[in-house]
Amino acid sequence: MNITVEREKTLLVDGPASVTLVSGKVEVFGSTLKSMGKVVIRDGKRMPFTVLETATFTVSLGENACVEEVYRSTIPPSWNKAYEELLTVQSKPVTALVLGAVDSGKTSFCTYLANKLLDKGRKIAILDGDLGQSDIGPPCTVAYAFVSKPITDLFNLEADNAFFVGVTSPGKAVENVVKGLTLLKDEIFQGNPDFVIVNTDGWVEGEDAVKYKLQLIEKIKPDMIFCIQQEDRLAPLLSMLKNFNILAVDSPLTIKQRSREKRRSLRELGYIKYLKNARVKSIPLSWVKIENGEYAGLDRNLDAKLEKEICGLIGIKPLHIAELKDKICVVVDGERWVDPEKLKKAEEFTGKKIAITVRGTEEGLLTALCNHEKKFLGIGILREIDYRKRIMKIYTPVSSGISTVIIGKVRLDKNFKEIPQSPVEEKK
Ligand SMILES: Nc1ncnc2c1ncn2[C@@H]1O[C@H](COP(=O)(O)OP(=O)(O)OP(=O)(O)O)[C@@H](O)[C@H]1O
Ligand SMILES: [Mg+2]
Repeated sequence: MNITVEREKTLLVDGPASVTLVSGKVEVFGSTLKSMGKVVIRDGKRMPFTVLETATFTVSLGENACVEEVYRSTIPPSWNKAYEELLTVQSKPVTALVLGAVDSGKTSFCTYLANKLLDKGRKIAILDGDLGQSDIGPPCTVAYAFVSKPITDLFNLEADNAFFVGVTSPGKAVENVVKGLTLLKDEIFQGNPDFVIVNTDGWVEGEDAVKYKLQLIEKIKPDMIFCIQQEDRLAPLLSMLKNFNILAVDSPLTIKQRSREKRRSLRELGYIKYLKNARVKSIPLSWVKIENGEYAGLDRNLDAKLEKEICGLIGIKPLHIAELKDKICVVVDGERWVDPEKLKKAEEFTGKKIAITVRGTEEGLLTALCNHEKKFLGIGILREIDYRKRIMKIYTPVSSGISTVIIGKVRLDKNFKEIPQSPVEEKK
């Protein structure tokens, strides 16, 4: 359908939808739309088309999508002030960090800043620190991209590099998120940007969240922190940031909130994007380094004598057995039952915890594949570990250069839908 909207109004479009500008002058988050350029709005997302000169759009709406016209721009004036303030910061590069609760407008604000700075001819990188609602890298990663042209949705950027954390909530992986973002920030600096915009996740309330954000801010050392205000949800965190240059910006009134289900389905789009053209690849275990608690040790074997003694004590011959710093990993066939009494004896003998893993439980685990320089090559889904042939089968679009496989905790089914974790897995 065609819709004509007068100047000084905004067309709000809730996805799934696509919008083509036929005529007129329109901005989306600070970027001027090209005539006849098509903009896709994902399910669960809303996009504001700010009309500067009377515009006609061709809009096609998917299931449950809708459009609404509202008066004026829905971009808060404080966003423009924030941009102007950022231009005055005298350092190179300038690092700006964006803080805000869930659904406060963090991603949109980062998009707006990037577009405005790009328009000034500056070199911009966006570092995306949101694992669960990641815009740039696949879900469960933190990632960055240099922005070379105006963007309406950060999701359209291709990650220049990513750091795989393997979970969707930072609460389970604080150290790793901070480590990943610090590494990526250093890498971005080598690309000589003028501005680095760091987006963060919406976990800002409670003691642990405040501690985590402080830890992150101390490492990232932003020249400026933008806080997206929604009531006073950031107050406890802000009270700890007295020594930083902080600017409050408003959360748009027209924001679209998302349910947990919508967040999960937005993540699915992220998995799909990064699993396009995937096929099952067999990788010999001896060719790669494998990282992750439970499955680490796949690339090593136990001393033959110790193995024999442990097997004797637990009364079975496992498919695989390996010693790690803090435990001994034992992989058994599903039918094999391990007597807890015997296990206890073996633990007393070795002085280490023995972790039993049942063959097949690896199926569906999200993995990341990296090259020898630790550069992220892509994600994959672990299909099977064949302990006899000593190969792993991974469904992935990555075809070469794999030297490290990192196994995550998120499990996906064949349609890339997340399978909820069992309470036992949750505790691991
Ligand atoms: N000024 C605005 N006008 C209309 N819609 C907006 C505006 N700003 C943001 N939105 C929409 O509101 C929704 C939430 O915004 P956004 O994704 O930027 O928030 P967020 O804080 O990054 O959320 P999350 O915590 O999920 O990462 C999005 O669909 C976005 O397009
Ligand atoms: Mg976001």
